[in-house]
Amino acid sequence: MISRYTHLIDLNDHPVSWWNGLLSLAQEIRNNPALYANSCRGRIMGTLFYEPSTRTQMSFQTAMLRLGGTIIGFDNPQTSSVAKGENLKDTTKIVSGYSDVLVIRHPTVGAAKAAARTAECPVINAGDGGHLHPTQTLTDLLTLKCEKGTLSGLTIGLCGDLLNGRTVHSLCKAMSCYPDNHFIMISTKELKMPSYIKDIIRAHGGTFEETHSLEDAIPKLDMLYMTRIQRERFASIEEYEAQKDTYILTTKKMKLGKPDMIVLHPLPRVDEIEVAVDDDPRALYFKQAKYGMYIRMALILTMLQSTKQTELLTGQQYPGISCKNPKCITQAEPYLPKSFTGSGTTLTCEYCDERLLLEH
Ligand code: NCD
Repeated sequence: MISRYTHLIDLNDHPVSWWNGLLSLAQEIRNNPALYANSCRGRIMGTLFYEPSTRTQMSFQTAMLRLGGTIIGFDNPQTSSVAKGENLKDTTKIVSGYSDVLVIRHPTVGAAKAAARTAECPVINAGDGGHLHPTQTLTDLLTLKCEKGTLSGLTIGLCGDLLNGRTVHSLCKAMSCYPDNHFIMISTKELKMPSYIKDIIRAHGGTFEETHSLEDAIPKLDMLYMTRIQRERFASIEEYEAQKDTYILTTKKMKLGKPDMIVLHPLPRVDEIEVAVDDDPRALYFKQAKYGMYIRMALILTMLQSTKQTELLTGQQYPGISCKNPKCITQAEPYLPKSFTGSGTTLTCEYCDERLLLEH
């Protein structure tokens, strides 16, 4: 299925040259903000935030306001017709008809792609459940580019909830497209990186190792990406309690890191970084949040100017076959066509990337 708009659902739907263009434009905007103050005058950005957000939502809003545009939308679906039972398709159809670009965050995996199917303007995925978060990754790329001067040849440590953290999924997918990056995945065995992400790293020729020890990993790192344990994605509070507080970055552990290692975190922090670490010049997570505004300015501008069509669903439907992932949007919104890529006994759901093994 081809949509006539340019959407950003997964960064990897676009070539690396497109990401690099956004990074250059963001740097240009950061250096000359006044030149862009009226670039989006008369344009409207819709924001549908079905899940809580501070940075992503406000940096998108500020980005549009700083470009001279305006914003509509909700940050609490309970104050919209969603509370009356309106489905995603109808809400998206209406708000995209009012807007020039639509930003959506949703707790269900694949929701942004589902919304883009019927949207009447470009859609930006601002986080779909534990799946992907492409604009956080653009933020991370811009931070790395400006602070490390390169996106290649880096040893990248990812620590915390690697199973449910959408930011680390998108980041690994993106950084594996630049040469010679090595990933050290630091987590408990329960919260390991999903295998489909590891397959993508391998397919791009990237390398990775897995460990449960933050102390062992730290001395090797050029960048440490800390994440919180994603309480809202656990089936029970007991399972969450068993995982929380496993990894806490302290000033003592920071002493093990290289002098030019940088520490990033998508935020919000719960307690996985001790507050005293904030005073270490290598702790760049607050600066990172500011980079997020510039990259979103570049993204909005680019998407509003783009006429490129997006291929949304490229696979096939199979009679009687549906995705088994309980967190997939096709379970919550039954009207959606159940589309899969792959063949033979292994199919991949086009909304959530979960694999489905068929028995013959
Ligand atoms: C992240 C998110 O929402 O996935 N935050 C963000 O967008 N800056 C990380 C998180 O919630 O832990």
